[in-house]
Amino acid sequence: MKEVQCCVVSCEKPLDATYWEAQYKAKLTGWDLGLISPPIKTYIDELENKNSSILIPGCGNSYEAEYLLQKGFTNITVIDIAPTLVGVLKDKFKNNPNIQIILGDFFEHKEKYDLIIEQTFFCALPPIMRQKYVWKMHQLLVDEGKLAGLLFNRTFEVSPPFGGSKEEYEKLFAVAFDFLKIDVCLNSILPRANSELFFELKKNKAVKINLYKFSGITCRDCMEAVTKKFATINGILNTSMTNDFAEVLIVSKNEIAIETLQNAVSFDEKYKIE
Ligand SMILES: C[S@@+](CC[C@H](N)C(=O)[O-])C[C@H]1O[C@@H](n2cnc3c(N)ncnc32)[C@H](O)[C@@H]1O
Repeated sequence: MKEVQCCVVSCEKPLDATYWEAQYKAKLTGWDLGLISPPIKTYIDELENKNSSILIPGCGNSYEAEYLLQKGFTNITVIDIAPTLVGVLKDKFKNNPNIQIILGDFFEHKEKYDLIIEQTFFCALPPIMRQKYVWKMHQLLVDEGKLAGLLFNRTFEVSPPFGGSKEEYEKLFAVAFDFLKIDVCLNSILPRANSELFFELKKNKAVKINLYKFSGITCRDCMEAVTKKFATINGILNTSMTNDFAEVLIVSKNEIAIETLQNAVSFDEKYKIE
C-alpha cells in the first residue's frame, strides 16, 4: 500500500535558489504586496525594544524591514536566497548600519535572534520542509525568543503558496513553542481577507528538538504506528513526521539516545532512523 502525499510542485521542480531567482528575473512576484502587511505593521507598532535583534527570512522586497527602520529599530537582519533580489536590497538599504542583508539559505544560517518575523516564507517552502522549519526556528531564537507573523488558513489549487490550517499549525509547533496567539486576522489586505492567521509563538527553552532522517515507511498507517511507539518513550513530548515520511521531528524533555529511538521501531526491520 503506497499513499505518499508529497506536494505536487516540489516533485516537479525544486523550490531552490534557481527557481526563486527566475521568478524575480521574470518579475513573476505575485506574492509581493508592495507594502507592509497591515497585521504585521500593527504588531511592530506594539514592539517596545528598538534594539532587539530581528530576522526576516525569505524577506523578498522587505517592506517589513523598511518599516522597522522607519520606526527606529537598530538590529535588523534580512535573508533571501535569490541573488537578483538581494542585489536590489543592498542598493535600497545602502549605508544603513541598522540592517544586515544576507544572500543565502535560511536553513544554513547560524545566529541568534530575539524575534523572527514570518511573512509568506513558510508557505513558499515545500510542505515536506515544515518540520525542518520548526527545528530551525527553534535553533535561531534566543531562550526567550519569539516567532510571529502570518500563516495562511486555507488551501491553494496551484502552489506555491502552500496552504494549511490552524489545527495543522497547532500540531506542528506543539511543545517546541508556546502559543501566545493564533487568530484569524481582522485587518488583512482585501485579497487575503479571512484567509490569514496572525500567530505569535514563544520558544520553549526547556525542551530539546531534533530532526532525524527516517526510512522504511510507505503509508500513513505505518507512520501513525511509529509515532505511537515514539510517544511511549519516556521524555518524548511530541513527534511530527514529514508528509513524505522521510524525516521526523522529535521534541523531548531530555536528549534521547538514537539507539532508544531505533529500538522502539525495531518491530519492523525496514524502519531506520539516523
Ligand atoms: C513568496 S516569497 C515572499 C517574499 C516576501 N516575504 C514577501 O512577502 O513579499 C518567498 C521568498 O522566500 C525566498 N526563499 C525561498 N527559499 C528560501 C530559503 N531556503 N532561504 C532563504 N530565502 C528563501 C524566495 O527567494 C522569496 O523571496
